[in-house]
Amino acid sequence: MIEHLKKLNEDALNRIKDALDLPSLDTIRVFYLSKKGEVSLMMGKLRELSQEERPAFGQKVNEVKEQIELAIYEKKQAIENVELLKTLEAEQIDVTLPGYQFYQGGVHPLNQVIEDLEDLFVGLGYEVAEGPELENDHYNFEMMNLAKDHPARAMQDSFYTDENMLLRTHTSPVQARTMLAKKGEPLRIICPGKVYRRDSDDPTHSHQFIQTEGLVIEKGLSFANLKDALLKMVRHLFGPERVIRLRPSYFPFTEPSVEVDVSYIKKDGTIGYIEILGAGQVHPDVLRMGGYDPEVYQGFAFGVGVERIAILKYNIDDIRHFYTNDLRFLSQFKGINR
Ligand code: DAH
Repeated sequence: MIEHLKKLNEDALNRIKDALDLPSLDTIRVFYLSKKGEVSLMMGKLRELSQEERPAFGQKVNEVKEQIELAIYEKKQAIENVELLKTLEAEQIDVTLPGYQFYQGGVHPLNQVIEDLEDLFVGLGYEVAEGPELENDHYNFEMMNLAKDHPARAMQDSFYTDENMLLRTHTSPVQARTMLAKKGEPLRIICPGKVYRRDSDDPTHSHQFIQTEGLVIEKGLSFANLKDALLKMVRHLFGPERVIRLRPSYFPFTEPSVEVDVSYIKKDGTIGYIEILGAGQVHPDVLRMGGYDPEVYQGFAFGVGVERIAILKYNIDDIRHFYTNDLRFLSQFKGINR
């Protein structure tokens, strides 16, 4: 019987040694170690032995059992290691391969100016508002204090789709829409957007361009608050050394109204000024139409031409470059401001 046990032990260890994968190793385990396996059968043989022989034989069987268990455990580790290595090998990445080149676009210069303005004003507590490009005469003109026969309408002659609807001539109608939506609450907004005017296109004119409107309505606002906002905007866009110059002007929706010039250094070293936007304190009638009592609330507003800013900032000689999608032009702006 001892012989048989020895043989069993040898066979088991050999089979374990030769096992190639986990399933065959498990078959071996079941064959020897399960309840009805070979080792248990040997234990069963104890009964056939005499009392004296039993303990020694029982101990032998246990030793064999432990040896087989250990051999299976070690073999299992070895197979798992090999498999892990195989997987790692299969999933290996060759980091020396050259990567793919992705073509990286840039942000359009006009959008860069808009994002720049939004960065500043959102930081100052303004919301970004929007309005429709196809606008009602009522919002585009009347709510902005330009009644049907107002002569200033002629400066903003536009594309009408019928008597009442037109492509908005400025972003100012968003002032009216926001005032009505806010129902008398204080507000701070900027509104970037496309506007349209009946104009012949040339290096400095385009029938479609972009404006950014600003409107603040609060209690106790003065002209000084407007000047502060304008100076912050100009310095944010053009640099901290710039100053502004205000010239009296006229807009039906503001009173007083100003044109705003920004300083620049001329070629001969002296300081010059270029007009960049219109602004003013909101006209009491505009406030009233928007649902605000001008005795309680004051407002200021401004309207910037976005192309104008980009032209000055980047020294561009023809407004039409912005719209012709010529990559030779556009790719010059990659990475500016970001
Ligand atoms: N809407 C004016 C235009 O298109 C620009 C403007 C001037 C807007 C003064 C304003 C403002 O809000 O206060 O010419």
